[in-house]
Amino acid sequence: MQLVFATHNPNKLKEVRPLLPKSMHLLSLKDIGCQEEIPETGSSLEENARLKAQYVFKKYGYTCFADDTGLIVDALNGEPGVYSARYAGKQKDPHANMEKLLSKLGAISHRSARFQTVIALYLKDGQYVFTGTVEGKITEDKRGINGFGYDPIFMPRGFDLTFAELPLSLKNSIGHRGKAIKKLVDYLKK
Ligand code: IMP
Repeated sequence: MQLVFATHNPNKLKEVRPLLPKSMHLLSLKDIGCQEEIPETGSSLEENARLKAQYVFKKYGYTCFADDTGLIVDALNGEPGVYSARYAGKQKDPHANMEKLLSKLGAISHRSARFQTVIALYLKDGQYVFTGTVEGKITEDKRGINGFGYDPIFMPRGFDLTFAELPLSLKNSIGHRGKAIKKLVDYLKK
């Protein structure tokens, strides 16, 4: 089966490809000729994931899924949450986002946080939502070069390394996106 992953983010594609069985042929937005920015104007992760999947489904006619992810920091009342991409401004710069988060947290010792992913799947016969969460904490400085986004400052529970220091295979097996994708694959296999 052919399935479009409605993202322009090459890092998300790199994470998701190894999680899909060979029978599912993943297409990127580039593959289907979609170059435009897809509006993400929702007020929740689910709404944004649905907006992205629906956009591709309606405009391009492909079976499709989209993911929206947020980092939720308890000491900041859930910030940056649904605004994770634009936390430090509309240029969506990951380093500026991390600097803003680290400076807002300052020396606060209570640094618990979680990544949440919501995946919306649009098929001809209906729409489905899958979620994945990973608990952890925000480090005091950036560490590691793997991954993307907030990975250098997120340390999953039970590890002494950030997602940017851990191999992709491990991030995928314990991480938010990996968990949500596993639910999607299990559903599609049924
Ligand atoms: P979106 O899901 O593409 O809207 O991402 C929201 C924000 O979270 C962006 O700043 C991403 O870089 C960041 N982000 C999304 N997924 C991850 C992840 O797996 N690790 C670290 N940051 C992420």
